[in-house]
Amino acid sequence: MDFNLTEEQQFIKQAAADFAKTVLLPGVIERDEHQKFPKDEIKQMGELGFMGMMASPEYGGGGMDTLSYVLAMEEISKVDASASVCMSVNNSLVCYGLNAFGTEEQKKKYLPDLTTAKKLGAFCLSEPEAGSDATSQKTTALDKGGYYILNGTKNWITNGSSASVYLVIAQTHAEKKHKGINAFIVERGWEGFQVGPKENKLGIRGSDTHSLQFNDVKVPKENRIGEDGFGFKFAMKTLAGGRVGIAAQALGIAAGAYEMALKYSQERKAFGTEICNHQAIAFKLADMHTKIEAARMLVYRAAKDKDEQKDYDLSGAMAKLYASQVAMEVTVEAVQIFGGNGYVKDYHVERLMRDAKITQIYEGTSEIQRIVISRSILNK
Ligand code: CAA
Repeated sequence: MDFNLTEEQQFIKQAAADFAKTVLLPGVIERDEHQKFPKDEIKQMGELGFMGMMASPEYGGGGMDTLSYVLAMEEISKVDASASVCMSVNNSLVCYGLNAFGTEEQKKKYLPDLTTAKKLGAFCLSEPEAGSDATSQKTTALDKGGYYILNGTKNWITNGSSASVYLVIAQTHAEKKHKGINAFIVERGWEGFQVGPKENKLGIRGSDTHSLQFNDVKVPKENRIGEDGFGFKFAMKTLAGGRVGIAAQALGIAAGAYEMALKYSQERKAFGTEICNHQAIAFKLADMHTKIEAARMLVYRAAKDKDEQKDYDLSGAMAKLYASQVAMEVTVEAVQIFGGNGYVKDYHVERLMRDAKITQIYEGTSEIQRIVISRSILNK
């Protein structure tokens, strides 16, 4: 597989790296400390074209390939995984979901503001009792003819309070199980829709995670995505691409921590020499570098599969499983290389270590990725 980047892809990667360094880096520690959502920074990301990268240009999107998106995700995630999860959900779940499966009217109405981040989107699948077991949706959408009535609770929703457009998965025909599930576009401000308190999280603390309540929310029929009963497939197909984005996030977290640890090891002296000259540190760096390169190959491969319209369920799940494992391992080692400095906030690596953990949990835990992978290799 050819992973040589085109000139355009190199430009996008560099633009994302420059933005991360000049705009995201200065306030990232403070935002993490105070759980402050990077509102102004996300607005700028929208203006620069990072928030709807793969969506069609006719709806304000960048019309770019998945590899370009993955390159940008990696660079942004090296510095600020809270900003990159917002970017990921907006790009690969909300904009992609609408662009791929929405009606012409839905695309025209919602995408131009979402692709430019004038408005943000949220993807609402998880519930208090339906996290991994996504078919067990308790949120209901009763068909009333020209509209649906939505009732239920969604949990751990990224962009929960900053979004204006919510893609909500709900059960319409309980007897049909997953075949009775639908997906709806719900707007902020509709009567009966309430945003719950912000979650106080271990990592990605700058991101905006909330529960949502729907109490008799009236949703027009034209806001259903796809045919009646398409909602579970919509969620699975959309999440398959989302997993490629989160794999890129995990890769970026690992690479960011590694690059900082490498630099630090070449400056910090102990026992009369830079610590990289001690084999104990050099071997750690060798392992970290190797794991990151292997993760990168898997992530790029999944992106290429998607771009070449090949099946990317398997390659995306493998990329997410492995890259998130590498993110955990590499960030723990980075903290170790920094020693006491690694344990304090000023040096960034402790934050990346905390941020890494979520990549093994959201958009399908590592166990879910193993289900997807094992079913695929066993042809189940
Ligand atoms: N593409 C298309 N269809 C798919 C599919 C895919 N990738 N995966 C499953 N399906 C279809 C199946 O073909 C099946 O349809 P048929 O009955 O017509 O054949 C249907 O969906 C049900 O599939 P399964 O029987 O495989 O369903 P399951 O109950 O065994 O669950 C699962 C499969 C993979 C475990 C799934 O439930 C899953 O992915 N769970 C994890 C959910 C998840 O990722 N949640 C993350 C929340 S979003 C988030 O985190 C966003 C954020 O804010 C950051």
